[in-house]
Amino acid sequence: MIIINVAGARPNFMKIAPLMTAFKRHPQIEPILLHTGQHYDDRMSDLFFRQLEIPEPEINLGVGSASHAVQTAEIMRAFEPVVLDHAPAAVLVVGDVNSTIACGLVAVKLGVKLIHVEAGLRSFDRTMPEEINRLLTDAISDLLFCTEQGGVNNLRREGIPDEKIFLVGNVMIDTLLNNKAKADNSKILSELGLTARGYAVLTLHRPSNVDDPAVFGRLLDALEVIQKDLPIIFPIHPRTRKNLSRSSLCTRVEAMANLRLIDPAGYLDFLKLMSDAKLVLTDSGGIQEETTILKVPCLTLRENTERPVTAELGSNTVVGTDPKKIIAAYRDAVEGRSREPKTPPLWDGHAAERIADILAEKL
Ligand code: UD1
Repeated sequence: MIIINVAGARPNFMKIAPLMTAFKRHPQIEPILLHTGQHYDDRMSDLFFRQLEIPEPEINLGVGSASHAVQTAEIMRAFEPVVLDHAPAAVLVVGDVNSTIACGLVAVKLGVKLIHVEAGLRSFDRTMPEEINRLLTDAISDLLFCTEQGGVNNLRREGIPDEKIFLVGNVMIDTLLNNKAKADNSKILSELGLTARGYAVLTLHRPSNVDDPAVFGRLLDALEVIQKDLPIIFPIHPRTRKNLSRSSLCTRVEAMANLRLIDPAGYLDFLKLMSDAKLVLTDSGGIQEETTILKVPCLTLRENTERPVTAELGSNTVVGTDPKKIIAAYRDAVEGRSREPKTPPLWDGHAAERIADILAEKL
């Protein structure tokens, strides 16, 4: 039973890794790994394959960056002949990036079953490109694997029949638990001259934050105050670096002595940085989940989250982009006024195995 597994952008790689391992061990499944090439820099792609020991993709579509329409269309054009050639039993897509919806559409139009891992998450904000990718991918999928009960509820509300929906846990947390011991040996803290709990980590790359100078400027208002109190390590995404280099905000960033920009970190170094941080400030989805498992306070610099369990049970607080609110939440976190985080159900390191077993039965 051939399954083509699609990965395209950085947050896909930690999701596909445990699935490939579980599928390779499964006697009934013959997995093929395909990289769309949406992300292509060593630090955004190959480094993750090496560190997570993901097998070399059998196929790389090499599409690269472009506008949403062009990128999505190029992936579809390149993917269609691959599906025709391999005649798989199913195509599996993860997450919510352009590669997810592009390959999903190709599969269903060719009458091939579509599997979506990390289904049902909703920010209810349709200005977010990922929300459109999530809604459309779920609407056309045959088997939908959810990380949290909220995802199941959203799918039911949208009319997806129960027999297609499976609550299995979180494959990204499988990867975190598999790699935690290795990450503990990372030398990143000494390389950067940091001590455990003596710094914060920041990531920013959402278009709503970094493409709009007014919003980015408000975030810098808050960061100016926080960095005077606690050094901030900022592994900077290529989109954010590009925007900053074109904007007058660059001088404000350079003026902050304790805001330290570094290149995008590899998986193991970044896991170590998060694990030992006093707190994490982010607009990433996955980091909200990872900090929940690490029990490190996370301030989400967005108005919403598609991962509500991280705020209900975990260490996440959705604070938005108002500097006053960010600074108040920062003080609460460093002064220890956060509640004790709990692990969401089924985030136990075995989600990929559950998915493999269900696929072997259902396909
Ligand atoms: C994409 C995903 C987003 C995910 C993020 C993680 C979509 C719609 N967005 O956003 O959901 O959270 O990945 O990183 O799919 N670039 C490089 N090198 C690379 C890749 C990108 O320099 O390897 C630069 C290019 O200038 C590119 C820009 O980053 O134009 C944005 O890349 P793109 O893949 O379009 O979107 P992301 O912002 O990375």
